[in-house]
Amino acid sequence: MTGVKIVGVGHYAPERIVDNQELETWFDTSDEWITSRTGMKRRHWTSENEATSDLALGAARMALAHARLEPKDIDAYVVATVYPDYLFPATACIVASRLGAVDKAAFDIEIGCSGFIYGLTVTSALVRSGVYKRVMLIGAETLSKLVDREDRGTAVLFGDGAGAVILEAAEQDSFLASELGSDGSNPSILLVKAGGSRRPLDERALDERADRIHMEGREVFKFAVTKMISATDAALAKAGIAKSDVNVLIPHQANKRIIDAAMKYLDIPPERCMVNIQEYGNTSAASIPIALSEAVNAGRVKPGDVIVFVGFGAGLSWGAVVWKWA
Ligand code: UT7
Repeated sequence: MTGVKIVGVGHYAPERIVDNQELETWFDTSDEWITSRTGMKRRHWTSENEATSDLALGAARMALAHARLEPKDIDAYVVATVYPDYLFPATACIVASRLGAVDKAAFDIEIGCSGFIYGLTVTSALVRSGVYKRVMLIGAETLSKLVDREDRGTAVLFGDGAGAVILEAAEQDSFLASELGSDGSNPSILLVKAGGSRRPLDERALDERADRIHMEGREVFKFAVTKMISATDAALAKAGIAKSDVNVLIPHQANKRIIDAAMKYLDIPPERCMVNIQEYGNTSAASIPIALSEAVNAGRVKPGDVIVFVGFGAGLSWGAVVWKWA
């Protein structure tokens, strides 16, 4: 067994910014409501002809430049997304080819907003076991295209973007522990009903919003706070690290109130927690790697720092990874 470290980070968001003031012109909402209930101010939305692979490509290129690597140097490409370019092929295949990395392994991971946490666990295992020397993991989403734009309860929450990391085999191991979980007993809490094999053959049986995000916000909120805390506690216990030794916590950016409640219970000071929700909204599987890339570029992460990545999402699913920055 070898170790693994992150040698490159990158992020990308579409140019178009939708701020709270613009949303006020769409339906009965206010900057005050959105800011106080979520912490969001702006989100980036793709244009008509941009898709998930376009955003993934931007993040991948930045990560390659940061690591000073060429696309051919990466052995496997993995994209975590809930909204691929197509039902198939996998978006990772499209991204690898567009980078000019043909013949490389490429596959997608779909586990809602927990995609980056699950992806980091899986790709780290691929490197630590010696299967691959270098793997690119990208979280990329275009949920602005999946929300019901007339539903103020969900349309204000989601944004588009992508974040990427390049993992490389190393002598010292950055991966300290992972805790993953799921509960699929009530999928309707966070669901897009149409588009899969439960779709009725007679399209008239589907309601017209069945291909849009349906979310029971309060239920998700309660679950999110509980699981952020328990997953962080469990992963830190596995790693044998005390909460007081966590230097940076990078949570899924779904709601500033969820983050604040979890931080308070975990007794981790707010200044150790990375928050950029005001700029991007909830970018699902992209939110943690975007925040990591921004944290690294801002000098907030230093060699030797203990980082906790923690997230939750559709499934329901949740997870945390404890990582020592090299
Ligand atoms: O990535 C994982 C997926 N998502 C999440 O983690 C989201 C988790 N949930 C949440 O973040 C919060 O539950 C929301 C932000 C979605 C909602 O906040 P809340 O404090 O739970 O509000 P609520 O659903 O209890 O709604 C309170 C009121 C309702 O009006 P009434 O029934 O009290 O008259 C809503 O209709 O706020 C209303 N409301 C809005 N008002 C203005 C809902 N959305 C809006 C809006 N603007 N955009």
